[in-house]
Amino acid sequence: MRRTTLGPFEVSRLCLGAMLMGGATPADQARAMVDRFVDSGGNFVDTADVYGDGASERTLAPWLARHRDRVVLATKVRFGVSDPGGEGLSPERIRAACEASLRRLGVDTIDLYQVHAPDPAVPLEDTLAALDGLVRAGKVRALGASNFPAWLLAWAVATQDREGWAPFVSLQPQYSLVERTAELELLPLCRAAGLGVLPWGPLGAGFLTGRYRRDRMPADGRVSTAPGDLEEAADRRATERNFRVVDAATEIAERHGRPVAQVALAWLLGVPGVTAPIIGPRTPAQLEDLLGATDLDLEDAERARLSEPAPPPDVSPHRMLRDQIGLPDVPTLRRHRPTTPT
Ligand SMILES: NC(=O)c1ccc[n+]([C@@H]2O[C@H](COP(=O)([O-])OP(=O)(O)OC[C@H]3O[C@@H](n4cnc5c(N)ncnc54)[C@H](OP(=O)(O)O)[C@@H]3O)[C@@H](O)[C@H]2O)c1
Repeated sequence: MRRTTLGPFEVSRLCLGAMLMGGATPADQARAMVDRFVDSGGNFVDTADVYGDGASERTLAPWLARHRDRVVLATKVRFGVSDPGGEGLSPERIRAACEASLRRLGVDTIDLYQVHAPDPAVPLEDTLAALDGLVRAGKVRALGASNFPAWLLAWAVATQDREGWAPFVSLQPQYSLVERTAELELLPLCRAAGLGVLPWGPLGAGFLTGRYRRDRMPADGRVSTAPGDLEEAADRRATERNFRVVDAATEIAERHGRPVAQVALAWLLGVPGVTAPIIGPRTPAQLEDLLGATDLDLEDAERARLSEPAPPPDVSPHRMLRDQIGLPDVPTLRRHRPTTPT
């Protein structure tokens, strides 16, 4: 599997998401999937304290006890869990949550510690200083953010830079062929500031696998069963324009003799600035289907065909800058000195 650089790490271009491990994916199957992923060249695993209220981290622990040095291990903090209780990003809670994750995972150090989402109840500086403290204490090696709007991430990165605090080296946004809003602000910011991008939901929760058809939605699929407030809720995901993306991916998959899901992942892997999509297979067979994605190279015409049906929203000022001033869709930033972490 191909590799790339992320902050201080060399990571595989697919990251294995552990959200379902110890839940919809039984623990023994989950550990066999991590084995298979690593045997195929993967070395990057993403979990969170909130997944299964600690069950995902606990499921990984016996595997990590044998193979800690074989993976770059990422977890997250922010949402409510029973240990340490409470929720949010106050300095005390961040320190307690980090200790709890270290305990559950059975490791001395977390490689990438990510803020799962912003917490407007806590001053940003307090959160960033606490995260810096964890790096200085050797509890975590690097920091990441997830689900931050671009203005807040830019503010955080600039604050870390100004204060000399440990920087965010990555952003974990939702990003796929059927959710491309990240292209408007987040991706240009991450490219300019040198942050890696780890797309979550790269298959739109399974929509981009060919399993969902206009006339046949699988009764047990994540999209079919998602409550209305989830991103993958059927009325948001199973739309005509998104089905046209699946049509394009199916056509291209047939041409290459690959699974549809690999085409969706290969498209993401070809977007400048994308480090590693986080795949979330529920079963070993689903994992097997996805593993070859990093060596599938799409032609420009194929990328264009996939991109056409469900573009990101056309918003101001981007539209005005493009149509009236002739600037590119996504303006880039010229700088005299690089912002950390590049
Ligand atoms: N930062 C965040 O807020 C956030 C949010 C969500 C996820 N994540 C991370 O990102 C990871 C992936 O997210 P995700 O689960 O939403 O990703 P995804 O890849 O878009 O969706 C995974 C779902 O796709 C289906 N699937 C996967 N491989 C398949 C295959 N080969 N054939 C058919 N169906 C297949 C399965 O659905 P069925 O179960 O219906 O079969 C699976 O549950 C998670 O594990 C987690 O680490 C982060």
